Amino acid sequence: MVQGLKGALTLTGPEACLAYYRDWAASYDAGFAADMQYLLPAHVAAAFAGTAAGGPVLDVGAGTGLLAERLREMGFTGEIDAVDFSAEMLARAAEKRLYSSLFRADITRPLTLPRRYGGIVSSGTFTAGHVGPEAFPNLLDVALPAAQFALSINRRVWEAAGFDRALDGLAREGRIAGLQLIEVEIYGAAAAALDAEHAGDRALIALFRSV
Ligand SMILES: C[S@@+](CC[C@H](N)C(=O)[O-])C[C@H]1O[C@@H](n2cnc3c(N)ncnc32)[C@H](O)[C@@H]1O
Repeated sequence: MVQGLKGALTLTGPEACLAYYRDWAASYDAGFAADMQYLLPAHVAAAFAGTAAGGPVLDVGAGTGLLAERLREMGFTGEIDAVDFSAEMLARAAEKRLYSSLFRADITRPLTLPRRYGGIVSSGTFTAGHVGPEAFPNLLDVALPAAQFALSINRRVWEAAGFDRALDGLAREGRIAGLQLIEVEIYGAAAAALDAEHAGDRALIALFRSV
């Protein structure tokens, strides 16, 4: 099977997702990201860089490390750790030597990482066929007080998967503060010729702080 965006967005559970990324890891950067002009990691990096946040930073669903690459290009010099459940994606990320530590873990389950992060960032992980808002409490558990979050959430699943209600609930419970949403395009103009169905997809970048 040729791996690509269409298949990724219709995955039906963690086992299917793991198997998919096992095969996609090798061609993800030079194929999907280059061909679709994948802009989302740069948008998340810019949103995070526009805050006063420091590190250490945890890149959630880090994949091959595209978000950390953009953070470095934008001048972020602090520590960045990666968490992802795909060994093959993390192996690609490790080759780039951007991360201090790489953790293999399922973010929908409680994490055994230290509570030490001043920044939590993510691009492309909160989307159809991937991770829902049930991961948020696990991320809050490894965040320092007043840690800055910058998480992309695909616009197609924002209401459908309950991200809007989950973030409102966390704000009402006093677990997060300062929620702001920035809407961005996920792909550049070249995507239209390759995947007309998803080329115009947009994401919301949720910026908020832990309390
Ligand atoms: C679309 S890729 C995004 C990778 C990278 N952040 C980027 O923007 O290129 C989604 C990533 O989420 C990871 N992922 C999916 N479900 C996960 C889970 N439950 N726990 C940890 N990682 C997960 C996949 O292995 C994959 O690397």
